[in-house]
This record gives sequence, C-alpha cells and structure tokens, in this order.
Amino acid sequence: MTGKSAQVRLEKLGAYPFERLKKLFSAFTPNPALDHIDAGAGEPRLPLPEFVQDTLLANISGFSKYPATRGNATLLQAIADWLKRRYGLLNIDPSTQVLTANGTREALFTIAHALVNPDADTKPYVMMPNPMYQIYYGAAVTAGAEPYLLPCVAAHDFAPVLDDVSAETWENTAFVYVCSPSNPTGWIAGRDYYARLLELADQYDFYIVADECYSEIYWQDKPLGLLEVAQSLGRNDFNRCLVMNSLSKRSALPGLRSGFIAGDASLIARFAKLRSYTGPGTPMPLQHVAAKAWSDEVHVQSHLQVYRSSLKAFFDIWGRGSIPSGSFFVWLPVENDEAFAIASYEQQAITLLPGSYLGAEDNDGSNAGSGFVRLALVDGVEKAAELAVRLKKVRV
Ligand SMILES: Cc1ncc(COP(=O)(O)O)c(C=O)c1O
Repeated sequence: MTGKSAQVRLEKLGAYPFERLKKLFSAFTPNPALDHIDAGAGEPRLPLPEFVQDTLLANISGFSKYPATRGNATLLQAIADWLKRRYGLLNIDPSTQVLTANGTREALFTIAHALVNPDADTKPYVMMPNPMYQIYYGAAVTAGAEPYLLPCVAAHDFAPVLDDVSAETWENTAFVYVCSPSNPTGWIAGRDYYARLLELADQYDFYIVADECYSEIYWQDKPLGLLEVAQSLGRNDFNRCLVMNSLSKRSALPGLRSGFIAGDASLIARFAKLRSYTGPGTPMPLQHVAAKAWSDEVHVQSHLQVYRSSLKAFFDIWGRGSIPSGSFFVWLPVENDEAFAIASYEQQAITLLPGSYLGAEDNDGSNAGSGFVRLALVDGVEKAAELAVRLKKVRV
C-alpha cells in the first residue's frame, strides 16, 4: 500500500448490501395497491420476551455507571452456563474464556484486527464463505489481509469447499471464518467439517472463528458448535477456536446489542486487550437483561416454533426446493437476482436481497451469490405465507 491514508483499503469495499439495495430501488415504486412486505433484513420481528421490561426497570440505575468492558460477572457466568448446557461443555471459565461484545457484528469485525499481522512480509489470507455476511470481508480488508473466498454452491450442499485450497495458501492463512448455520444458505457445519478444519488449523497454524449466531434456529437437528466438536476431539482448552453468538436472533433482541465471544483463552486475552481500546461495554441495565435471556429457553423455543411454521408455510405454497437446515433465510434460485428483486418490489411490494450483494467477485469474475435471492422470514407465519403467494405471481 502506498500513501498514508486508509482510503486504498476502504476503496476495496463496495457499498454495504442494504445501501446498494436502497440505490437499486430508488428508481422504482412498489405496487401501491399492496402492503409492503420486508423480507430483506434478517431482523427478527417477534414480541419482546416478557422479562425484558421488568429486568430493565429493576436495573435502570446502572445507566449512571460506565459499564465493565469485559462484561459483568453475572452475565459472563450466565453465558458460560448456557455454553455448558447447550453444548455439553465440561468446563469453560467465564473469567478467561468468555467476553461480552455489543453483538456479534462488532466482535466479528474486531477479531480480524486481533488475529492478522498487517506487517507480515506476505499479505495474510483470511478465509470466508462466499456468499457471506459482509462484515467478514470488510474486517479482513481493513485489517490488512487478503480475503480468500471459499465457494458455497448447491453441488456441495453449500458447504464452503476446503479441498481446492493449496498448501501454500493454507500456510499463509491467519484465520478462517465459518458461519454455521449459514446466512444466507442455511448450511450447517457437521462434525467432520469442523474436525477437518481443526486438523488443517494445526497443520498450517491458523485460527478458526465460528459465527454461530443462528445456532438456535434450525429445522430438525440442533446445530453442533465448534467448541463442542473441539472438546470431543480432546481439545479441552479450545486451542485455536473462537465462537461468537448473540441474543439478536435467538431471543429476537437485535436492538439490545448483546453478544459474546468464547473459546481459546490466549485469543480471548488478545481480543480483550484490543477491545479495551476499541469497544465500549454494553450498558449495565442491558447486561442484566442479557443475563436473563441466556438463562431462559422458553422464549427461545417459542420463537423457534414461529420460524419453523413460517418456513413450512412458505414452502407449502411455494412448492419447490426444500426447507433450509438452519437460519430463517430462504436462498432461492432465480435467473437474474437483481431483475427478480426489482420485479418483486414493483409488482408485489416485496423487498428481498439479490444474492450477488452477499457474494464477492472471485478471481474469474464470477459471484457465488448471483442467481439467488435471499428472503428473511422474520415477520411471522401469515406474512411468510403471503410472501410465497405473491412471489409466485412475480414475472421477470
Ligand atoms: C451471519 C451473521 N452474523 C452476525 C450477525 C450480526 O448480528 P448481531 O451483531 O446482531 O449479533 C448477523 C446479522 O444479521 C448475521 O447474519
């Protein structure tokens, strides 16, 4: 890089998908005869869990204090207890192996800056699925790494393909992002996938960062977690592993901005050091709400039923394809994703996301997200059914 400005790195980043969508739609008008259905953003729109208001009010005086950056002891313990219950972990120390963050987005971004050496002789790779949650790409680029795209295609059940990566590339990899369950494809990492990645991580000396924020939204089998697989392989210290999760999807509390990062204590310490400079703590009253949310599964189960019923309602009417293994997204094949998004908006007042906006261009100019649109079924069962009815009428 030449010059002293970060402009060069920032120019490598395109506009964020929702900015692109706004621009795309600015020249079109949604059908005025219909209510708008927003299936674009992955923002759960379910009722607030009951405990939120009472817990917030009971702890409201906490707004007069600076919050602890690492997270208060009650919240850290609640997260560690949840990890033990959910994944059968024998041991996870809340004081060294868990840290809170203001949602996973922040943690997913910051971690690249803790794991990549921007001064390395050869620019390190950060691997990520393609298509992907765009934060991975932005984090890799701004941290001074080269994004390395692992294509996720139907022929491989949308698993990010590892086998085509050369030894030289692995040698130069700082870390790998895994998204399981995946936004946008719904793929879930199995035991063998994580085990293979761990083997490669040992062989080539890199780290694994698993974004598991859709872990509680699944069609049949509860998704495995990276820490659980690590433990089953005898890695009780979770060496090289970090996982991230939040209350945004599980508890339908995206506005709470509360999540965590957990795993390898030495990596957590690195992250904590960086975050003591960059990250504000989550406000104390919100940390109390978060501790409650990690300790209650009743509201999570009731959300899960809504997501499952919504997916079923959609596919019963749509009549093609199959329900994704995980997440509340439908990754729908179409001929031309931008044209389909525009037609859906104009003809049926539906907002959805062109898949190419979630992909990045590979070296050959192809984009693994092209030819798909992403629908977020976050508005309940009736809207999901209505969405399928209206989409069937879209003509490009
Ligand atoms: C795959 C994925 N990871 C992380 C996030 C960030 O969620 P939050 O910061 O609310 O935890 C999202 C949000 O849409 C997501 O889809």
